[in-house]
Amino acid sequence: MHEELRYDDKVVIVTGAGGGLGREHALMFGKRGARLVVNDLGGDRMGDGRSSSAADRVVEEIRSAGGEAVANYDSVEDGARIVETALDAFGTIDVVINNAGILRDVSFHKMTDQDWTLIQNIHLNGSRAVTQAAWPTLRNKAYGRVIMTSSAAGIYGNFGQANYAAAKLGILGLANALAEEGRSRNINVNTIAPIAASRMTETVFPKALLDRLRPEAVSALVGWLAHESCYETKGLFEIGAGYVAKLRWERTCGYHLGRNGIFAPEEIAQHWNSIVDFTDAEHPTVMNDSLDAVQRIMADDRRD
Ligand SMILES: NC(=O)c1ccc[n+]([C@@H]2O[C@H](COP(=O)([O-])OP(=O)(O)OC[C@H]3O[C@@H](n4cnc5c(N)ncnc54)[C@H](O)[C@@H]3O)[C@@H](O)[C@H]2O)c1
Repeated sequence: MHEELRYDDKVVIVTGAGGGLGREHALMFGKRGARLVVNDLGGDRMGDGRSSSAADRVVEEIRSAGGEAVANYDSVEDGARIVETALDAFGTIDVVINNAGILRDVSFHKMTDQDWTLIQNIHLNGSRAVTQAAWPTLRNKAYGRVIMTSSAAGIYGNFGQANYAAAKLGILGLANALAEEGRSRNINVNTIAPIAASRMTETVFPKALLDRLRPEAVSALVGWLAHESCYETKGLFEIGAGYVAKLRWERTCGYHLGRNGIFAPEEIAQHWNSIVDFTDAEHPTVMNDSLDAVQRIMADDRRD
């Protein structure tokens, strides 16, 4: 067994930590020595209402177990205020866990502007707001661990979740760019796509499955990715029910069509099977891998 991972003296913000996964993340960090900002707006799972009691209860749980925590009740849309709470209470920030979220599931043809905008505001804009407010502190101290929370609904697409899927994959795009910007400052940015029993999923999954999907299992991955001894960055992980795996992009070898990149739709149709054939597929990881493919073709053209 690996030695215990501790977060002594590390200041950790967990958004949406009044319940579900966020609460488990906060309790895990609290037991292991971190100083915590427990943020939660305290609304319902559709984003209606607000209350300070959700965050207060978790702060109390952490304190009664001997940990250190303060509450914050702002929406993640006001990320600067959450960061201010951390700086006022503890003077710095080391770890940001973007976890807060709600659902407004409805099929696309019935989706209102409000269904769309609210989900973008809380998931994508909220993750941006909190992370951007913390970013100068992380850059200045040349240390940071940021975790984003995406979803299988965004990665794979899901009926009735166009708003949520767009926001959740937007979060992955944000994480990928921030991983590049944070690289030289020792700021690691990773993304999880969890699956867990919570009020968000209790009406979606059957009871037998919910019993297996314990949210604290997800916190273990968050703990590792947030630790100073973990150098992973720009990763995307699926986690739930005792299973954890890494995802990556895959690209077919492609097909070289026509000289100078000029070709007709008929040629695409003719070579479609080769274009979509994943035999010997590549796994691009950076922007330059995209350019590389074009440069390889230009080199082939010069040789012809
Ligand atoms: N449970 C799953 O299987 C699952 C799957 C994929 C993704 N996720 C994601 O994991 C995260 C946590 O979800 P959960 O399942 O624990 O749900 P949850 O509803 O139990 O927890 C979400 C928490 O976020 C808080 N919150 C909502 N809006 C907020 C806001 N504007 N500002 C601050 N706090 C706010 C809520 O009050 C709640 O306590 C979400 O981002 C969710 O989209 C969960």
